[in-house]
Amino acid sequence: MSRLEQLQRGLDSAGQAHVLRFWSELSEEQQEVFLQDLVLLDLQRLKEHCEAASRAAAGPAPTLDRVMEPVPPEITGSVTRSDPESLTRWEDEGLLQISKNRVAVLLLAGGQGTRLGVPYPKGMYDVGLPSRKTLYQIQAERIHKIQELAERRHGSKCTVPWYIMTSEFTLTPTQTFFKQNNYFGLEPSDIIMFEQRMIPAVTFDGKVILEGKGKIAMAPDGNGGLYQALVDHKVLEDMKQREVEYLHVYCVDNILVKMADPVFIGFCVSRGADCGAKVVEKAHPAEPVGVVCRVRGVPQVVEYSEIPPETAQLRGPEGELVYRAGNICNHFFSRTFLQDVAEKFKDQLKQHVARKKVPFVDSCGNQVKPTKPNGIKMEKFVFDVFPFSRNFVVFEVIRKDEFSPLKNTDGAASDTPTSVRTSLMDQHRRWVCSAGASLLDEDGNIVGPETSESSDQHPVKCEISPLVSYFGEGLEQLLKGKKLQTPFVLDEKTTKVLQGQSSGDL
Ligand code: UTP
Repeated sequence: MSRLEQLQRGLDSAGQAHVLRFWSELSEEQQEVFLQDLVLLDLQRLKEHCEAASRAAAGPAPTLDRVMEPVPPEITGSVTRSDPESLTRWEDEGLLQISKNRVAVLLLAGGQGTRLGVPYPKGMYDVGLPSRKTLYQIQAERIHKIQELAERRHGSKCTVPWYIMTSEFTLTPTQTFFKQNNYFGLEPSDIIMFEQRMIPAVTFDGKVILEGKGKIAMAPDGNGGLYQALVDHKVLEDMKQREVEYLHVYCVDNILVKMADPVFIGFCVSRGADCGAKVVEKAHPAEPVGVVCRVRGVPQVVEYSEIPPETAQLRGPEGELVYRAGNICNHFFSRTFLQDVAEKFKDQLKQHVARKKVPFVDSCGNQVKPTKPNGIKMEKFVFDVFPFSRNFVVFEVIRKDEFSPLKNTDGAASDTPTSVRTSLMDQHRRWVCSAGASLLDEDGNIVGPETSESSDQHPVKCEISPLVSYFGEGLEQLLKGKKLQTPFVLDEKTTKVLQGQSSGDL
């Protein structure tokens, strides 16, 4: 039997015979490329995948309110509610672990970023800061700085390896971009890029979607594809070799992300945690974010759609939301926990249904760009390993200091280039003010630390390079008592000027 016949049979028994519908219209070369793609498909798995996708699309998500409870205070730390001594202790512990090369960061950068809609990886996006830095550059500079802070505190030179999960869409442009930018001054061997798997997009009745006459529509398998990718690319072995014990996992789109945050790492390590989630207080009961809680006694992220409104609105004695722990995709894992997940649990991860607009060729061979969702992309989520944790902790941080994601184009209600740019510059303005300096607007008037409603449209331009300050530290000695004209950009160059001045303004 020829390769083609074998494939025809396999596709037939998987209920996917339509995939070869346009075979005879393809050139020999196109046929060969398509054949190579198709033989890579595991047809038994494909059948299960399509059936599961169709079943999942048919029913609404069950609500979980009868079996869920909030995470208990004993396993929760908080930037606002823990005492200052504990916060300092955790920070010391985190910096110590970093200084001993035991901490790495892992960036989830395999997403297609369909809502932002740029034809390159989201990390390469320039959000319009005065410095014109991209998200990747900001992150690289935070790594530089946290290494320096740990070195300074403990006197030993250290490295925070940067693992970057990409996908077919993002790997090559990300590699090229890093190379063009000289790896932002980091050691190339300490930046480890690896690729997650792709899976077919499927119609609501479980048929693989053809994106072209000789091409299946494929999508990355969700950020929970991480665990398979760790195995595929021997990433855990690499971590072991480097003696990395703890991993901080985060999303590419959060402009405020505190990479390798020593306070969070230190909190998790002091608690002996194998898995931890950073959370922010939900802005309001209906905010569509997942909530970290317990379901049938085990930690889990419950999606917004799984919580009925009356449960989402429940409040505690001090008026706070009972289910307040909003997930921000910012996690701590011990390497040994990830090893366990890779060996025992990764195939048990739940599949989530994402309804998406998937371009396709119709039965007459016409290219169609759908205007409403027509397909399902099944995705695994990175947080779905929480139930396997033996010692799970939660750490609550302040949203305006640590969470502002870029999801949409300008014009959308939230999470846009403008909103993330503003949140970063607002944070830096607060840092400058609390360092004892004054910022002046164009008319020479002093602007306060907080944005007023009216100035929302024209935020005060104030940007501090992560190479100068990681989280507001070290600014007082530079800026105290100074009057600073906006736009104000504090980078290494302006720092030198300021260091050369005993007093005066900039
Ligand atoms: P989102 O869920 O926001 O998806 O990803 P996205 O692909 O970036 O954007 P949309 O939904 O298409 O507009 C959250 C994080 O998970 C990563 C993303 O890169 C982002 O950091 N991600 C998502 C992956 O690494 N792999 C995936 O398959 C999906």
